[in-house]
Amino acid sequence: MNKSKRRAIIAGNWKMNKTAAEAVALTEEIKNSVFSGRTQDCEVVLCVPFTSLQAVVKAVEGTSIKVGAQNVHFEPCGAFTGEISVDMLKEIGVEYVIVGHSERRQYFGETDQTVNKRAKAALAGGLVPIVCIGELLSQRESGETENVLSSQLKLCLEGMSESDIKKVVIAYEPVWAIGTGKTATDEQAGDACLFIRECIAKLYNHEIADGITIQYGGSMNAANAAGLLSKEDVDGGLIGGASLKAIDFSKIVKSANTLERRFL
Ligand code: 13P
Repeated sequence: MNKSKRRAIIAGNWKMNKTAAEAVALTEEIKNSVFSGRTQDCEVVLCVPFTSLQAVVKAVEGTSIKVGAQNVHFEPCGAFTGEISVDMLKEIGVEYVIVGHSERRQYFGETDQTVNKRAKAALAGGLVPIVCIGELLSQRESGETENVLSSQLKLCLEGMSESDIKKVVIAYEPVWAIGTGKTATDEQAGDACLFIRECIAKLYNHEIADGITIQYGGSMNAANAAGLLSKEDVDGGLIGGASLKAIDFSKIVKSANTLERRFL
């Protein structure tokens, strides 16, 4: 396995926070603290609420920051009240989309099957899906983590071709670490991401597994990011709470940049 083959992706998941005006203000702060005149070695993505997407796309113009949505529907159009299609996102300049976040699974009935459909629709329309998987605390405590992860992967990636899977980003987000302040240890995160990579090697092949970006998410912050990101198989972060503070988010980006520069 070779970390240098993969570019780190640091993505902020703002969840249901910030009005459009507040989102632009935070984006400006992030631009100032993260992008003080130099290009980034890692990819930076801001996944903001639907209502802020257009404003944030405009606010990041001229920088390398990318914008992502937090969900997308799998049908191209039709009677799906409250949903948003791939084309609607593409048209306004969105490039990434989170699918299968545990909060969508927990509160909105998302299943591995619907995650699979959303991810495939995103790929077909030219969006990069960030596919979220992760075990519950009870599953970790009963030793089921690997079974849960391999099953989620198999179902969420079902029917994706080799050229599809190369464009997918996986986010390993242990549910017990999300918003709890209880981060996985560097070893737990590294071991789970390695396991995910091995599953992908079995489902596809080693070359594909070696090239796929696997993020860690769950209480990642300015203090613990460097340790987590230093793990061979952790290729970035999907950050909730700490992505809402420009200074903290920029520290995480800087940790990723420092690690990326080893490979230049
Ligand atoms: P926190 O960083 O707030 O734990 O959230 C993680 C997450 O859910 C990112 O998608």
